Amino acid sequence: MMSTEKRGSWGSRSGFVLAAAGSAVGLGNIWGFPTQVGQGGGAVFVVVYLASVVLICLPIMLAELSVGRAAQLDPVGSFLALIPNSRWWLVGGLGILAGVGILSFYSVIAGWSLAYIWFTTTGSITGDADTIITFFSNFTANGPLTITLTLAILTFTATVLIGGVQSGIERATKLMMPVLIILLLVLAIRAITLPGAAAGLSYYLRPDFSRLSDPAVINAALGQAFFSLSLGMGTMLTYGSYLHRKENLLSVAGWVVVLDTGIALLAGFIIFPAGFSISGFDPSTSGPGLIFTVLPRLFSELPGGQLFGGAFFALLTMAALTSTISILEVPVAHLIDTHKWSRPRAILVITAGTFLLALPSALGNGALGVLTQLPLIGISFLDLMAAVWNNFALPLGGLLMAIFVGWVWGTDDALAEIDRQNARHPSLPIWVFLIRWVCPVAIGVIILYTAFSI
Ligand code: TRP
Repeated sequence: MMSTEKRGSWGSRSGFVLAAAGSAVGLGNIWGFPTQVGQGGGAVFVVVYLASVVLICLPIMLAELSVGRAAQLDPVGSFLALIPNSRWWLVGGLGILAGVGILSFYSVIAGWSLAYIWFTTTGSITGDADTIITFFSNFTANGPLTITLTLAILTFTATVLIGGVQSGIERATKLMMPVLIILLLVLAIRAITLPGAAAGLSYYLRPDFSRLSDPAVINAALGQAFFSLSLGMGTMLTYGSYLHRKENLLSVAGWVVVLDTGIALLAGFIIFPAGFSISGFDPSTSGPGLIFTVLPRLFSELPGGQLFGGAFFALLTMAALTSTISILEVPVAHLIDTHKWSRPRAILVITAGTFLLALPSALGNGALGVLTQLPLIGISFLDLMAAVWNNFALPLGGLLMAIFVGWVWGTDDALAEIDRQNARHPSLPIWVFLIRWVCPVAIGVIILYTAFSI
């Protein structure tokens, strides 16, 4: 599917939707979304997130898919093919850097999830909420362990890309996605029926609009939407380049957005009711450890909790791996396509570079934590990475993509690609308006406003 030797295409729409959903659904939905909601003040974050998804991200997903399918190339090559002799290829270049940056912290968290398969199935995490939190800090403070786990995730990802066992991964995704959704539903029902869950539901669903005056909240919601939908760095562009000409891009994009957003919202229905059922719970201070401290407690409330917990973290790790594969493929495809590197060499070099960049994120909570704790901003290296790439690089990539499709390449060519059947869906004129005006202006204002208020 991602082989560059011979350009394949997707067998069926469901095959594509599945693979794109496999890229989109990952830590972003189940780890990132609840963490960000917690830091962004609850329901108000959810409202801004949903608005960003519908008004900004869905139009940009269509734009990325149309550029990729029209040009049939990697991100840098696509810009060069559509508008030769311009500097637009730099947008693809930014995406490649963002890919390495995101993968560097993503693989650390995926490594935590990997370890929690073991911890939950063996029943290593028991006790009250405080014990579970201490367990998490001790675990993440164990540098050699977190580094080994990160390396395991990166090695697996690289092996899949070298060995080309993607068809196996696709089959696994097909199986995994429905099981993941069912498991999330079961957990949500259990969480909502816990004593004290009502406070969590109201935190999650009743917005405190006074938080809207904080540009950081709006920026974080926008960045989280890009991150969760794998937008702004050329992943969807690359996937679009493999998509069959007869597919209607509008319905494809719609499906991916609905699945991805649905799973993120579902994760919130687990974490907040379960979290608030624990006394003294404060989602705003939990940070990246939120799900790793709330969920083990929920599993201990379930009959067969060890089994549920193990299954949950196994599914989360698999969902993370289908995402890491899609992230690593972007810089790799570029080195092969544009610089004519061999596939194994490209994979080796990018993976090694990513691993080095991952070290400060992996060590952030350990003895070396002081070194990676950035005194000026007071946040950890991992949080800094997530903020720089998610909140700035991805929206910037999206902004440039919107300008490119809306004003440079042109919405007429894009529309012809989106709607090859000439079905003229009534929402298409709205898409033109959103991509030309709403996306660039809204993203531009949010980025500038945030940058000036830091
Ligand atoms: N969307 C994935 C998640 O939510 C992560 C991801 C995959 C990604 N590909 C990406 C994020 C490209 C940004 C850009 O876990």
